[in-house]
Amino acid sequence: MNTVFHPIRLAGLSLQNRLAMAPMTRSRARPDGSPSPLTACYYAQRAGLGLIISEGTQPSDEGQGYLATPGIYTDAHVAGWKQVTDAVHAQGGRIFIQLMHAGRMSHPDNTPRREPGVAPSAIAPGAGMFTATGMQPIPSPRALSTEQVRQTVQDFRHAARRAIEAGADGVEIHGANAYLVQQFLAPSANTRDDEYGGSIANRARFAIEVATAIAEEIGPDKTAIRLSPGLSLWGIDEGEQGPELYRYLVAELNKLGLAYLHIMHLGDEALLAELRSLWQGALILNRPGRPREQIGADIAAGLAELESYGAMVLANPDFVERLKLNAPLNEADKNSFYGGNEQGYTDYPTLRDAQPA
Ligand SMILES: Cc1cc2nc3c(=O)[nH]c(=O)nc-3n(C[C@H](O)[C@H](O)[C@H](O)COP(=O)(O)O)c2cc1C
Repeated sequence: MNTVFHPIRLAGLSLQNRLAMAPMTRSRARPDGSPSPLTACYYAQRAGLGLIISEGTQPSDEGQGYLATPGIYTDAHVAGWKQVTDAVHAQGGRIFIQLMHAGRMSHPDNTPRREPGVAPSAIAPGAGMFTATGMQPIPSPRALSTEQVRQTVQDFRHAARRAIEAGADGVEIHGANAYLVQQFLAPSANTRDDEYGGSIANRARFAIEVATAIAEEIGPDKTAIRLSPGLSLWGIDEGEQGPELYRYLVAELNKLGLAYLHIMHLGDEALLAELRSLWQGALILNRPGRPREQIGADIAAGLAELESYGAMVLANPDFVERLKLNAPLNEADKNSFYGGNEQGYTDYPTLRDAQPA
């Protein structure tokens, strides 16, 4: 029986174990959107996980939604990420950069051009967002023209190329959590009447075009995607057709031979089993808030090839070692999740730190 500690081959890479660090926005990028040496230290500390998936990283100016998130489209971004990937590789780790276009989940004050976000349709998410001056309502986004949708696909392609230049082992398209890709999927956010709206095939088109373009650009073995079927958050409602949409989308993505599919699972076990059978490649499964005793259960059951963990890895740089030793875990401090300095970022103690000298 496979456990989380067994090595695995994933898309031509040898991973030390089957634990992945889930992508986590930490809002500590420099003003130009490049990650700092502190970020390199943070990821290198966690390189004991088989695979690191980076925080959501915007592919373009328009893709930014939150404060101080990193980008991967300028030379400065590439130089900053190169320090991160070098530091992770030096520790024997592997890293995919998550490409996150926030779409309508964006506040103008947080973005380089101080403009409202872009989206399939001009429908506000009905949510607030943290800015430099505190929480503010998110304004209505600008609807993308058909030509602009095609340009956005090219922005993803360009960012993927730049991620590889920066030494990333691959990229994960953020198709989950109510951001741009999922906004296209959901009729509540997408009322378009061109080829990117309406039918299931049309709403799935943007996700498939982004994945296809990136796979062409950097290779399918370096291209992955994250989905959160059935998520209901910030005005996202996939409606009754939701399960059918995901069956179609996953079957189409399966044809591309991507590195992996990363599912943030929200409870529909029957749908998860169906998607698993439609997906012939590697599956990374994230079950939010999964208790420690359940770690490894999906791998043992043969449902997933890897399991990803967020908060526990954030708070435990030596997560794998602690699991192996059955040692206690540090608690994550929510107050330092987003923004700030090394506090709550690179200063979580390892077991070794805690040992008396
Ligand atoms: C601080 C924080 C930031 C997050 N940022 C992202 C992100 O940038 N991209 C993403 O796909 N998910 C993001 N997530 C969701 C996590 O990847 C993960 O799905 C979630 O934390 C549930 O897993 P867990 O219970 O193991 O933490 C974030 C979660 C946390 C706690």
